Amino acid sequence: MKNRLIAPSLLSADFGNLQRDLEMLNRSQADWLHVDVMDGRFVPNISFGFPVMKTILEHGKKFVDVHLMILQPENYIKEFIEAGADLVSVHVEASTHLHRTVSLIQDLGAKAGVVLNPSTPVAMLEDIIEQVDLVLLMSVNPGFGGQKFIENTYKKVAQTKEMILLRNSTALIEIDGGVNLENASKLFAAGADVLVAGNAVFASQDPERTIELLKI
Ligand code: DX5
Ligand code: ZN
Repeated sequence: MKNRLIAPSLLSADFGNLQRDLEMLNRSQADWLHVDVMDGRFVPNISFGFPVMKTILEHGKKFVDVHLMILQPENYIKEFIEAGADLVSVHVEASTHLHRTVSLIQDLGAKAGVVLNPSTPVAMLEDIIEQVDLVLLMSVNPGFGGQKFIENTYKKVAQTKEMILLRNSTALIEIDGGVNLENASKLFAAGADVLVAGNAVFASQDPERTIELLKI
């Protein structure tokens, strides 16, 4: 998996025209499709579930990055992978037996990511970093698109990168929340490999061009 990847978040897509938006993403330089699943319990919002996932899989042609913002994600891992998820990320705050959940994802043939909320320290990765394929650092409190980027994230990117290098981990670093044309290159320079972008892409005049610019 190469660096400087862009993962547009479908949470900000036009759900009335989901097929049109997916076709735009297929044509674009987007690398991944970021799919946000929310249960109204782990986060104060409900997004979508399997029927919408099915449409995304049917029309989307990119690597599918599923971000589970749900309690007890282990109960739904199999279903998401069978639905076509290439990578499934679970919050450390939401999965009691994280090692078991990560193993389950990998045993079912998908890549496994772990997610940290803005207030969760990087030290929580200490005993899982060698096993995971990706660390997703939230740069907003999860639940909604269009929020303001939390500046403390740069420090966490540096700390995560340091841990990855020290432990010979192959994990990628993904950033999610408030990513835009102002902070994208700074985040890549700090050590991020994948940037999620919802509002920055879908609220722009020219989403395809914005995806291109986010990579520069
Ligand atoms: C927030 C979601 C994000 C969100 C990002 O809980 O996990 O993926 O869609 O949206 P923007 O880029 O608008 O902050
Ligand atoms: Zn997300």
